[in-house]
Amino acid sequence: MHTAASIRSQFPILKRKINNNPLAYLDNAATTQKPQSVVKAITDFYTQYNANVHRGMHALSEQASTAYEDGRERIARFFGATPEEFIFTRGTSDSINIVARMLEPRLKPNDEILATQMEHHSNLVPWQQLVKRTGAVLKILPITDEGRWDMDALERILSGNTKIVAVNHCSNVLGTINPVAAMVRAAHQAGALVVVDGAQSSAHLPLNLRSLDVDFYAVSSHKMYGPTGMGGFYGKHEILELLEPVSFGGDMIRSVEAFDATWNDLPWKFEPGTPHIAGAIGWAAAVDWMQSVGWDTLEAQERELTQYALDTLKQVPGITIHGPNTAVNRLGVISMTMDGVHPHDIATLLDREGVAVRSGTHCAMPLMTRLGIPATARASFACYNIKKEVDQLAKALQTAWKMFHPTVTVQVPAKNLWQR
Ligand SMILES: Cc1ncc(COP(=O)(O)O)c(C=O)c1O
Repeated sequence: MHTAASIRSQFPILKRKINNNPLAYLDNAATTQKPQSVVKAITDFYTQYNANVHRGMHALSEQASTAYEDGRERIARFFGATPEEFIFTRGTSDSINIVARMLEPRLKPNDEILATQMEHHSNLVPWQQLVKRTGAVLKILPITDEGRWDMDALERILSGNTKIVAVNHCSNVLGTINPVAAMVRAAHQAGALVVVDGAQSSAHLPLNLRSLDVDFYAVSSHKMYGPTGMGGFYGKHEILELLEPVSFGGDMIRSVEAFDATWNDLPWKFEPGTPHIAGAIGWAAAVDWMQSVGWDTLEAQERELTQYALDTLKQVPGITIHGPNTAVNRLGVISMTMDGVHPHDIATLLDREGVAVRSGTHCAMPLMTRLGIPATARASFACYNIKKEVDQLAKALQTAWKMFHPTVTVQVPAKNLWQR
């Protein structure tokens, strides 16, 4: 049984003091901290069996290749996929860019791509660029005032022209857990493929991508306790078989002649060059670590903390929380604005109190426009966060409020003139 204390003990960084205060690391939607087992797996690779994969007959290369491919297998299974269906990339952004380029030859002018008003730029700009290159049309699904997809509008927007539906599973600003299964059903009925940005969901929701029936699903290792520079995407086997690679070089080929080449099997056909071997090994260790903690603990702990945070932060004067106001279908990603105070000032003042949050547009400028605000300050939780840290955040926010809104204390004379 894992307790908050036993989980925290595996993250030495959480013992740090910042500005003489205990660190409250609440910037997990940007990147999570790494448990010791992940750091050790990466160190072991570099100190014990560092070598290039797939090419060598020597012992170290064989050991590295086995660890790398075994890592892929564990990661793919974690997502309910097979290793052939799991392509390694640098992360979610890289994955979505690759998928967009893979689908490009299939698009023709006036085909439609549907994204939503709450996309991260990584799941919007690649599609904007794709429509420019192909003459396809980008459509945007609006969101409701509560920060959820407007499913009534979906019926009006989806049509036989829709070829790709590109949506996030969980919003990195509002925390909303979106109804991806319903979206997949509607999109498939219209004949469209579904590409899901899973950057925020992968560390917080158990996923079985096969049964979710998505066509592509992009993730980042660093948001799920693994190393940076590493990620991947799932693609349905039958679709990946049909698509052509978009990057070329060593490892992704079967044979090369002077003027032509043929492609390797899945998944390598989409992976040119030397991969991020330590990244795959570290990510697999992260997935093992998450499984050792277990989804019961991971989910329950975060849901309870999210509800506690929503209740606690609402009490802070001047605070508006953007997004759903209960922990139902919501992650612990809490975007706030404070009347009369810029989010960057909030983040700076919180840092003085040891609280790490992010401020800005969170790579979601169209969503900021929809909300009618320039930016937010965002606190986001991982499984090692505790109520004490939420209290530390609330207290620091109160200090910020007082600093920017000092109450004008009127000096009342102890006695008035007529009482002399
Ligand atoms: C919803 C969402 N999509 C995509 C990304 C991009 O992820 P990465 O920077 O790992 O490519 C992020 C990162 O914050 C995100 O929150």
